[in-house]
Amino acid sequence: MFRAMQVVLRGEGRRAAAGGFAGHCGYSTASGSQRLAGKVAVITGAASGIGKATAAEFVRNGAKVVLADVQDDLGRALAADSASYTRCDVTDEAQVAAAVDLAVARHGKLDIMLNNAGIVGSLARPELGALDLADFDAVMAINTRGVMAGVKHAARVMAPRRSGSSICTASIAGVLGQMTAHPYSVSKAAVVGLVRSVAGELARSGVRVNAISPYYILTPLVLRILEEWHPEASGEEHRRIVESDINEMEGVVLEVEDIAKAALYLASDDSKYVNGHNLVVDGGFTVGKALNMPAPAQ
Ligand SMILES: NC(=O)c1ccc[n+]([C@@H]2O[C@H](COP(=O)([O-])OP(=O)(O)OC[C@H]3O[C@@H](n4cnc5c(N)ncnc54)[C@H](O)[C@@H]3O)[C@@H](O)[C@H]2O)c1
Repeated sequence: MFRAMQVVLRGEGRRAAAGGFAGHCGYSTASGSQRLAGKVAVITGAASGIGKATAAEFVRNGAKVVLADVQDDLGRALAADSASYTRCDVTDEAQVAAAVDLAVARHGKLDIMLNNAGIVGSLARPELGALDLADFDAVMAINTRGVMAGVKHAARVMAPRRSGSSICTASIAGVLGQMTAHPYSVSKAAVVGLVRSVAGELARSGVRVNAISPYYILTPLVLRILEEWHPEASGEEHRRIVESDINEMEGVVLEVEDIAKAALYLASDDSKYVNGHNLVVDGGFTVGKALNMPAPAQ
């Protein structure tokens, strides 16, 4: 996909930019539907982007949410009556365990664990022989090991109650190769793998675990990629790349709120029998590949 981004920047955008990234400031519980009424959630990586939007969606739907992140100022600013903030570096298993225990101590139980914290790592894409294994370890520690810790400790408190839903943010980069640098791709494929690995075991305890794999959305994580890859481009051009040039669906822009709604489905009882699934939200990007067929002779 990075290659695709370079190509489109050189060429012309296919579509006019539409819509925009809508951030959330503060939470409102006012909602017609309260699909998570009475439920308690922990969200890692909740101070920004997808995690932040999902926290807002969960609160709107009646959940009590513990926001867990390493960006303390952003996280604390978001916390309100129905959402509290705790510092939690997901590379430290004890901190993940503590976030889970905090939710139980404060609200009596844990129903939903969104393992969402993630980084892209180095944006260089070296050949395999030049791969920086320190970068690989750093990305795996957050994107995969951190998710494993979240699923493990959520299950610790969910299984005795025979109920709960863990959701893990993966990526289209975990579905298709060559989308990103190897560490990120491997880390996200491993998230899909860990969901498949533990789903059966958790099902026997009444607990579900699923993944969500988003396509590109202009969050701070993606902005960092664009700024490094296309430093000459303006903010407006960065937005156009994501919302128009590499957009899969005519006239529709993928937004963090769309991932929040996917998470809402997997968190709620509407998905009570959905387990071990990877919910790909990509406008169909990963299900097809154009055949490199030469054009017919004239
Ligand atoms: N934005 C996209 O296009 C996209 C696409 C596919 C997958 N994802 C995944 O979605 C998830 C959220 O990303 P985003 O796009 O919202 O980016 P983001 O940068 O806005 O949010 C990521 C959050 O994770 C937090 N975080 C980073 N390291 C952490 C750690 N060690 N412990 C706890 N928190 C930590 C950050 O502080 C940040 O708040 C990531 O797992 C990312 O890989 C994003």
